[in-house]
Amino acid sequence: MKLGVVILAAGKGTRMRSALPKVLHPLAGRPLLRHVLDAAEAIGAAEICVVYGHGGEQVPTALADVQCSWVEQRERLGTGHAVQQAMPAMQGMDRVLVLYGDVPLIEPETLSRLVTDSTDTGLGVLTMTLPDPTGYGRIVRCKQGHVLRVVEHKDASEAELGITEINTGIIVADRAQLQHWLERIDNNNIQNEYYLTDVIGLATDDGVEVRTAQPEHIEEVAGINDRIQLAQLERYQQLRIAENLMRSGVTLMDPARLDVRGSLECERDVLIDVNLICEGRVRIGAEARIGPNCLLIDCEIGAGAEIFANSVVERAKVGAGARIGPFARLRPGAQVGAGCHIGNFVEIKKSLVADGSKVNHLSYIGDCDIDSGVNIGAGTITCNYDGVNKHRTRIGANAFIGSNTSLVAPVEIAPGATIGAGSVIARDAPAEKLTLTRAEQVTVEHWQRPVKRPQSKQEV
Ligand code: UD1
Ligand code: CA
Repeated sequence: MKLGVVILAAGKGTRMRSALPKVLHPLAGRPLLRHVLDAAEAIGAAEICVVYGHGGEQVPTALADVQCSWVEQRERLGTGHAVQQAMPAMQGMDRVLVLYGDVPLIEPETLSRLVTDSTDTGLGVLTMTLPDPTGYGRIVRCKQGHVLRVVEHKDASEAELGITEINTGIIVADRAQLQHWLERIDNNNIQNEYYLTDVIGLATDDGVEVRTAQPEHIEEVAGINDRIQLAQLERYQQLRIAENLMRSGVTLMDPARLDVRGSLECERDVLIDVNLICEGRVRIGAEARIGPNCLLIDCEIGAGAEIFANSVVERAKVGAGARIGPFARLRPGAQVGAGCHIGNFVEIKKSLVADGSKVNHLSYIGDCDIDSGVNIGAGTITCNYDGVNKHRTRIGANAFIGSNTSLVAPVEIAPGATIGAGSVIARDAPAEKLTLTRAEQVTVEHWQRPVKRPQSKQEV
């Protein structure tokens, strides 16, 4: 069975009050439409077609890497009209599933259930019973309980408004039959729109049994129309992510204070304190601990490592058992080995710090290769940029760099070298020797501190 998926995403999104098309607004770090595309892929769609409109080419451009086709719905004439635009792309499909770009959290399991439950008939509809069905299309059933049709809220009679089973909008249909039904719908309704929902009445007229299935959670079929609903669904999704992490053996000091905007994979017994934000792909090894208020972006934290409060790690790698922060910043290309210590107010960029080396306080290490067992004193700076080009610094194993040293790259410190505090090192330093540059210390005899002049009246 070849399943095609049509995703409707031509809505204006007026209530978002945004220059960005609604379906490109991020939820858990990914565009709303991307979530729907992922669900379509997860159920093995053979063909996906997105109907876009508002925002013009912005939507297909932003998701250019996705394997799907795009059709523009120039005039927004209704959901039935929108699906019609995608039908040419569905040629060769056996069945067609209709999803919505602004209903991001639909579960693949729910969709599979809808598809499976209706395989032996022409039409399946995902429905739900709501205590307050205001605004939704209602599922009208006959006395025997078979679905007859869907009536839109605006077109419903008093009696129909009392129906609490609603149309979620998600349907799956036999492709050829859907094609015929879509050709037969008109816009003789209060909104003068071509309603996709009219397909249900037409199916019943043709003697096709309409099956229904229900989602497990209401949030799966929640549509986003404004930023308040977006924020509500964001919280729901974040809590779900947090719960999944806890189920997999992660301790979260407060599941309500974690934000994963991308993916977070943790091995067992990771401990995460409050206010961690993860972006992109983050992996954390077993028994690592993440302190409060950290930001981790596309990075890997080794087993048993500790990231202390207020540290930022971006596109960097932290080795097993390393200790980072508090207030450390690892920038793209920082690779810190096992057991390293990177302390407060240390910035590391595009540098390798080999196992067991320490940069404990107030340093900038950029474009630098630090071998193992090195100790970098407080306030050490690699002067890696001459205003035009970047240059590398190399520091051999077990070297000791005294505090407040400037290493003017390109420069090499040989293994075991010691650099005296306060040096400006612009030439290579030999192994196992003390190298330093230092202005001689002088003491000025007979020098006196200035004393305060008596103040005149005007100066007061
Ligand atoms: C629709 C259903 C209603 C259901 C509700 C669930 C119809 C006629 N009604 O109503 O039964 O209870 O969803 O939320 O289908 N869209 C387009 N092009 C169009 C029109 C709509 O792409 O020409 C897209 C919108 O961007 C939106 C979705 O289709 O994502 C639903 O359209 P909307 O007008 O919001 O339908 P509802 O009135 O909510
Ligand atoms: Ca809607």
